[in-house]
Amino acid sequence: MTTFRILPVIENRRLGPYTLLRIKDVGIHKYAGCGQFVMVGLSFLRDPFLLRPLSFLSVDNDSFSLLIKIKGRGTEMLSMVKPGEYLKVLGPLGRTILPGEKGILIAGGIGIAPLFYQSQWMRGGVLLYGAKDKRELVLVKEMEDRGLVVKTITEEKGGTVCDLVMENIALLKGQRVFICGPVAMIKSLREIIRDYTRETFVYLERRMGCGIGGCKSCAIKTGYGYKFVCQDGPVFPLEEVEIG
Ligand SMILES: Cc1cc2nc3c(=O)[nH]c(=O)nc-3n(C[C@H](O)[C@H](O)[C@H](O)COP(=O)(O)OP(=O)(O)OC[C@H]3O[C@@H](n4cnc5c(N)ncnc54)[C@H](O)[C@@H]3O)c2cc1C
Ligand code: FES
Repeated sequence: MTTFRILPVIENRRLGPYTLLRIKDVGIHKYAGCGQFVMVGLSFLRDPFLLRPLSFLSVDNDSFSLLIKIKGRGTEMLSMVKPGEYLKVLGPLGRTILPGEKGILIAGGIGIAPLFYQSQWMRGGVLLYGAKDKRELVLVKEMEDRGLVVKTITEEKGGTVCDLVMENIALLKGQRVFICGPVAMIKSLREIIRDYTRETFVYLERRMGCGIGGCKSCAIKTGYGYKFVCQDGPVFPLEEVEIG
């Protein structure tokens, strides 16, 4: 059930280089599905006018959390919102996915956010997780506590997530794989894992004007014609979509 509401922030804290916002929303756990996201904006300002898409990081009985990486003005202002202040929230949006009990998750940087949410539904599996530096590797212990085997790499030491995937390529054989990260990472991974996985899905990001299929700003080319990331995604089978 998608709704537009004004909701209070109840926590704002740093998590590595990111901002974790917790927003009060009683009953959200009943309808926020795996793979979904919300459009969020400041309730007290008109500028930036458009809401920004953010993945669910976690969902509880009375609240949900978002993890924000500052990119431009919108995410910078959202990361400064204090407990007690209100946000405009449209959601949940996007298609719910069936994550399966186990599988391989591949995260680059802030791509950890929706994959952490996805792991809430899983009973194990493997997380291959790359970031620029150690500070950017967040929620590792929490993922391990959920039963996932976590392997990490940082650019300042070992290399990129693609190097990590190549080192562990045998683990991908016959598996369902979910990827979330920068476009360059997804493009490289597509070549590396092509012959190994059973199925590969990718969380796509596009600039979004509305989040509900009205503005057409998030259209992507797929093997089945144009699709909208906000309505048909954000998760797609990797082989069906054009990346970048
Ligand atoms: C479904 C979905 C889920 C997302 N989940 C998260 C999340 O959990 N945490 C998080 O930090 N970010 C997430 N993002 C990305 C986030 O929405 C953008 O970083 C944000 O909209 C940028 O807004 P801004 O005002 O800060 O930057 P702007 O000033 O609007 O843009 C700054 C730069 O970022 C680029 N940019 C803006 N929006 C996007 C976008 N959607 N995709 C790619 N590049 C963009 C612009 O081209 C520009 O170069 C998600 C995006 C989508 C589509
Ligand atoms: S964001 Fe408007 S159609 Fe997808």
